[in-house]
Amino acid sequence: MKTQPVLLVHGGAWAIPDDMVESHQRGISRALAAGYALLQQGARALDAVETAVAVLEDDDTFDAGRGSFLTRDGRVQLDALLMDGSNLRAGGVACVERIRNPIHAARLVLDKSPHVYFVGIGAEEFARAHGIKLIDNSQLVLDRERQRLDQAHQMALRGLPDESFSGPPSDQEPPSYTSHDTVGAVALDSFGNLAAATSTGGTLNKTPGRVGDSSIIGCGCYADNLSAATSLTGWGEPIMKLVLGKWAVDRVADGFAPGRSAQDAIDYLHRRLNGHGGIILLGPDGRYGIAHNTPRMAWGVSNAGGVQTGLNAGGVQTGLFRGVAG
Ligand code: GLY
Repeated sequence: MKTQPVLLVHGGAWAIPDDMVESHQRGISRALAAGYALLQQGARALDAVETAVAVLEDDDTFDAGRGSFLTRDGRVQLDALLMDGSNLRAGGVACVERIRNPIHAARLVLDKSPHVYFVGIGAEEFARAHGIKLIDNSQLVLDRERQRLDQAHQMALRGLPDESFSGPPSDQEPPSYTSHDTVGAVALDSFGNLAAATSTGGTLNKTPGRVGDSSIIGCGCYADNLSAATSLTGWGEPIMKLVLGKWAVDRVADGFAPGRSAQDAIDYLHRRLNGHGGIILLGPDGRYGIAHNTPRMAWGVSNAGGVQTGLNAGGVQTGLFRGVAG
């Protein structure tokens, strides 16, 4: 029996400003349309999440691909992971500087390598050897981001609270919600298989070489047909310490609904490490959950019921903003 396909995407969880709402919603809608069209044609979940995330990487709005936040020294360093829930195959790349779509490089790692994870120059050389054109890092850098980085440096010089995520002093002093546009997708295909993908430029003003949660298996991304598929966004260090993606899918395997598990994961992140972020979570039966504790999160869902997108407004930083549960 054929399964009804489902696709969820997210475009980050943070204090998305009013003047960026439209561009976020447009990007989410495009990613949903591209990925869901594939699922409707009978494509695999893995292809759908790769395609949806590539659309978001190509969109300057998001902190993935071109337009990503800059490292302290003004470069773009990208991380991405995707995972096939039908066989637990995964492919990841981190700290790549010369690849326009790191999610395609991650897919090559999954398809073509006995290994799971490549970083830096090794990742770039692997991608190049398998047909990906390497570009100059400057092609990924926007003036908008140079200005944003400059502001972060100015604030640091003036001794103002660090609006970046380059070095939160401790788990008790979380950085603000000024940036977290990591993108991701989870899908269920008509064969009943799950997949997940996440891609990011990391955090504004990060120390060169820093890798966050997004490309680490079980942290910012995970998929297993026996539990669920998930992609996370937010302040990466606490998410990594809690291995939050795996934590969330294990709750689904334990019998909790994805909606409840998504909310529990964000509650746990906040309670345990004062962390913040957002999660999309999809079970093998097509039920899903979306939760975040940031003022806004850009998300969208396509399934047999149609297309739904959201960008929830919020108020206080420490509050928990309830997502939606299908
Ligand atoms: N969640 C993205 C990062 O912290 O790198």
